[in-house]
Amino acid sequence: MVRKNRLPRFPFDYINEKAEEYNNSKWMERNQKRATLLSIQYLFDENLNDIDTKVNKIGDPFLILDLGCGTGFSSEILIENNFRVIGIDKLPDMLLKAKEKKTRIFMKLPFFELILADINFLPIRVNSLDYIISVSVYNFITYGSQNYNEKLKVINDTARYLNRILKKNGRMVIEFYPKDEKELDIFNKSFIKNGFEGFMIKSNPNQKSGQTFLLLRNDK
Ligand SMILES: C[S@@+](CC[C@H](N)C(=O)[O-])C[C@H]1O[C@@H](n2cnc3c(N)ncnc32)[C@H](O)[C@@H]1O
Repeated sequence: MVRKNRLPRFPFDYINEKAEEYNNSKWMERNQKRATLLSIQYLFDENLNDIDTKVNKIGDPFLILDLGCGTGFSSEILIENNFRVIGIDKLPDMLLKAKEKKTRIFMKLPFFELILADINFLPIRVNSLDYIISVSVYNFITYGSQNYNEKLKVINDTARYLNRILKKNGRMVIEFYPKDEKELDIFNKSFIKNGFEGFMIKSNPNQKSGQTFLLLRNDK
C-alpha cells in the first residue's frame, strides 16, 4: 500500500500489485482529483494569462496533455471539465488501468487517447497542444540519471521539448514534490531558460519542500 506520509518510490510503487493498490485507493483518488482540480484552476489563473474561453476558435474543446497520467484519475477530471485529453505514462501496469477506465466509462467521448511513452521522449507534434498538466509525476523524471550533470541535462531537455510542443501562449501546470529548495530551483530555472514564464504556488508557504504548483506560460 502506498502510505500517506511518505513520498512514493518510482517505479516500485507503480508496478505489479502496487498499480492495483494505487488504483483501488480512495485516498489516492481523492488526492489526485483534488490536485487536478486545483491545477485546472491555476491554468486559468488571471495572473498567468488574461485571455480565455474554454473552447478554441473553431469551437472545439482545448487539447491537453496529461503528463504521467497513471491510472487516469487526473484524466478523468480533465474529461469532466471538457478538455480533449492525451494521457501518457511510462509504465504499462498503470496505463492499462487507465485503458480499462477508458473502455468502461469514456468510450463514447470524442477524444481521449492514451500513449505508452516517457516524458523525456514524447511522441507529440511541435506546436500542437493548448495545455499541459502534470500531477505528482515531475519529481520522477530524472529517475535513472547517474550524476548531477546527467540529471540537469534531462531536466533541461524535457523543459525545452515541452516548450516546443505547446502552442504560443499555451499554458502548463506542474504539480510536484521537490525534495528541497535546491531541487525546486533547478526545475524552476529549466523552465525559465527554455521559453516559459510564470510563478509558483506552494500549498504550505513555510515549507521548503512539499506540494508545489508551477504555473507556466509559453512565451515563445
Ligand atoms: C502519482 S502517479 C500518477 C498520477 C496521475 N496524476 C493519476 O491521476 O493517477 C505517477 C505516475 O508518473 C508516471 N511516470 C513517472 N516517471 C515518468 C516518465 N518519465 N514518463 C512518463 N510517466 C512517468 C508513473 O509511471 C506513474 O504512473
